[in-house]
Amino acid sequence: MNQVEKIIDEKIQGKALITQDKKENTKKLFIESYGCQMNMNDSEIVASILDKEGYNTTQILEEADLVLVNTCSIREKAETTVRNRLKKYNAVKKVNKNMKVGVLGCMAERLKEKFLEEEKIVDLVVGPDAYKDLPNLLEEVSEGRDAVNVILSKEETYGDIAPVRLNSNGVSAFVSITRGCDNMCTFCVVPFTRGRERSRDPKSILEEIQQMVDKNFKEITLLGQNVDSFLWYGGGLKKDFKKASEMAQATAVDFAQLLDMCATQFPKTRFRFSTSNPQDMSLDVIHQIAKHKNICKYVHLPVQSGSNSILKAMNRQHTREEYKTLIDNILEIVPEMAFSQDMIVGFCGETEQDHQDTLELMEYVKYDYGFMFAYSERPGTLAGKKMEDDVPNEVKKRRLQEVIDLQRKHGLYRTQQHLGKIEEVLIEGTSKKNPNEWKGRNTQNIVVVFPKEHYKLGDFVNVKINDCTSGTLKGVAVEYSDNN
Ligand code: SAH
Ligand code: F3S
Repeated sequence: MNQVEKIIDEKIQGKALITQDKKENTKKLFIESYGCQMNMNDSEIVASILDKEGYNTTQILEEADLVLVNTCSIREKAETTVRNRLKKYNAVKKVNKNMKVGVLGCMAERLKEKFLEEEKIVDLVVGPDAYKDLPNLLEEVSEGRDAVNVILSKEETYGDIAPVRLNSNGVSAFVSITRGCDNMCTFCVVPFTRGRERSRDPKSILEEIQQMVDKNFKEITLLGQNVDSFLWYGGGLKKDFKKASEMAQATAVDFAQLLDMCATQFPKTRFRFSTSNPQDMSLDVIHQIAKHKNICKYVHLPVQSGSNSILKAMNRQHTREEYKTLIDNILEIVPEMAFSQDMIVGFCGETEQDHQDTLELMEYVKYDYGFMFAYSERPGTLAGKKMEDDVPNEVKKRRLQEVIDLQRKHGLYRTQQHLGKIEEVLIEGTSKKNPNEWKGRNTQNIVVVFPKEHYKLGDFVNVKINDCTSGTLKGVAVEYSDNN
């Protein structure tokens, strides 16, 4: 429930990748990902690029010819985790001298050449927009040189690469639709590590979804740092839209239209999206959710703080009042909508009153779910340069605990509202706790577990909910839903 770090470990997943091995491929790639879902998706793109270079993936570090770690810079702890992994690789490299090690993703972008100096074991440093250059960089490395490419691109979206789904359960998949972020929240490193915002051609998005549907995938999550800001006008940066021709502007596709296209073309596929930014969210998107049964009634709507002065210091472009109004408006259009938040406690200058405002806002929304963090100063961000990280660690810790406790209470309040109802669940896998039970999610993104009976992975099932915890619903299958 109170997931404080969004760390995803590639190693524990991806059994399916053995079937994707190519016989003619002779080299072995070990790829591990940390951080956001975008990184997971990027690793699948990297695996696809390297598949053509003769690499099959492996789960065994010791047998790898190439080890890649896709890294996260969002908080200091994320970077520490990766540095510890590098120590582990180093130990293996001492035995397996031909093994090459590369750092991908946000830490590569942030630290650039410094990596080669500081971490002597790294052969390759590749930023998030340079993965297509990997074959060239690997050639450099094989000739004994270090290789670095961390140039951020204005166009790169990887829309032309079909990702190898490494971690997939075969039921739900992620499709990237935007890259980068233009919002410049003062605490956030993403605009520096992922560059300016650009959107992918809807045609290539729909083609990728078609491929997933052909492979029997049932649920697609559209992915971006800021999906509501999606805007396709023939290519180019979001910020240059106003400079585009009249024709390009008139025929542009925004996020609500993209959702409409996806949900209409694939009526049996469930759609989700993440992440939404309150300042960029339009009610058109919510109207699409109301219109299409196959778009899930769930929005991840990070707020970061409930205090107006902190929101201002964070350069979030809305007040607490505007955020509440947005929530009210959304609920008016879709009353069953579920919300989750990202919250940062202990940002620069946060007073006890600011913290109380955060708790009050949470009380107002009563989020279904939350991702809560103590502020971690990031070098290079505006807050890192200009503001004092002045909330003592103990105070951050205590406030974080209060926020987590309140979220748990609200989570339970929300799950209790589902008791006695019959809800459609997409089966995504076997429950971790009980091999005789399926787990899946309802439209509100709440995990539902129930006895397997004769139902199968990928089925849409109507489940009668009869028990709950603060994060999970329990029930019994009633029948197939009409979506199968
Ligand atoms: N739009 C993004 C948000 C990026 S980071 C997305 O797609 O999820 C995810 C969350 O990490 C943020 O919403 C914020 O709550 C948290 N975060 C970002 N920078 C942080 C920092 N310096 N310290 C603590 N938490 C941070
Ligand atoms: Fe970061 Fe704010 Fe963008 S949190 S990803 S700069 S919306």
